[in-house]
Amino acid sequence: MRIFSNNSDEQKLIDAVYAAGQGHVFRFWNELGLESRTKLLAQLREIDLELMATLNQEFIQSTENHLMQQKLEPADFISLPKTPEEIEAFNNAKKLGGKALKAGRVAAFLVAGGQGTRLGFNGPKGSFPVSPIKKKSLFQLHAEKILAMTARHGATIPWYIMTSETNHQQTTDFLERNSYFGLQPQNVILFKQEMIPALDDNGRLILDAKDNIFRNPNGHGGSLSALKNSGALQDMKKRGVDLIFYFQVDNVLTKICDPVFLGFHIQKKAEMSAKIVPKTDPEEKVGVLGKIDGRLGVIEYSDLPAEQQTARNSDGRLKFCAGNIATHILDRNFVEKETKGGLRLPWHLAHKKIPFISDTGEQVNPVESNGYKFETFVFDALADAERAVFLEVKRENEFSPVKNADGNASPAAARRDMINQFGSWLEKIGVSVPKDTDGNVEGEIEITPLFALDNEELAEKVNPNLSFGGSLYLV
Ligand code: UTP
Repeated sequence: MRIFSNNSDEQKLIDAVYAAGQGHVFRFWNELGLESRTKLLAQLREIDLELMATLNQEFIQSTENHLMQQKLEPADFISLPKTPEEIEAFNNAKKLGGKALKAGRVAAFLVAGGQGTRLGFNGPKGSFPVSPIKKKSLFQLHAEKILAMTARHGATIPWYIMTSETNHQQTTDFLERNSYFGLQPQNVILFKQEMIPALDDNGRLILDAKDNIFRNPNGHGGSLSALKNSGALQDMKKRGVDLIFYFQVDNVLTKICDPVFLGFHIQKKAEMSAKIVPKTDPEEKVGVLGKIDGRLGVIEYSDLPAEQQTARNSDGRLKFCAGNIATHILDRNFVEKETKGGLRLPWHLAHKKIPFISDTGEQVNPVESNGYKFETFVFDALADAERAVFLEVKRENEFSPVKNADGNASPAAARRDMINQFGSWLEKIGVSVPKDTDGNVEGEIEITPLFALDNEELAEKVNPNLSFGGSLYLV
């Protein structure tokens, strides 16, 4: 059965959908009321049918393995400082970054449009209660760090938050309900990224309800075009912001707007920069920053041949060790350049279980992967950056993401890492901190960013005679 409309614009769209071989999305048309029909057509209007056909041809139907020809090389990075000269270089970078913050040139940019499927939490991941004692949400932790940095540098740091259709309203409500955790509402700017439909194994769009096409957020790479299309870039320009500190919602240890990182980025006139933590275990499933056919990018764990994975330099370090922690600085002009004429990043696909509606109208949650989700990755923009800085940081100081419900990278692991970090700050001041046999702090510690953002600030406020046992909350 073919459907028709009296409206010529609608008919054009319907014809295009049939011509693209996607007419099956109308198979419940006769059962749909006006509202559902309008919704389905509106979704179809936003879908780039040509792009979907290309993705189907290039990825799903093609059997070519592009990777075989790629030349992979490690990338240079700035190591942790050891010599007095290196320490001085870090201090100088910190001063330079501090100056940029004070001048109001820096924005914090959080990408929080993901679906958090692995965590399985009912709500935006940012609203997940995570801190060790007060169970503050990820959003609250980030907001308090921004507040503390604002106070420290005496300038506004606007906070741009990217959401997606899947969580925008809930995120907005959560922040409003919590009065933006003390930030000025006019300095917290939320906007949505775009969605992209999934395709089944035959390259067909998937209905997950009679009037709904299954779509997912277009990956964190979509943040670049979303910055542009939402007007955020324009807003930054008006505010005098030219440095965008990019971070992800799940890392409880992010050093938001780290002046050292900003300073090195500014010094090198970099267009896009990245923080790395050294990978020590060759088996660790993390992407590493490197060069792919001579261009900067992230080499996925699965794309690194075994002999490269285990290869070591003369100093014993893994040759490919620059583990990506998804913390970047983007130059505003670079984002402008990258998004001219639309999103140019390459697409990646993943075979996933995608809920669908059967021909008889039943909702099915498949047990096997049945379709492809497409995503773009922000780090692919590195390939276009004329200059980039990669900066090594310590994992225990800066990287503990909440990804899974249990085990590795879980909320429990993040809490442990936060407590250990606070414990190490106290120890640096001379406070005695009890540890278990694994070296983890015994007890619970929480230090709000507003009390101290680092061990140096803590040293100004806490007496080394402080006795700690059990539970300590510093606010
Ligand atoms: P992940 O790749 O870990 O995905 O995102 P996720 O959606 O949070 O979790 P899973 O894979 O479904 O379990 C890393 C960061 O990128 C953001 C996420 O919100 C998170 O901050 N992201 C991811 C987006 O903003 N948009 C996307 O389309 C994908």
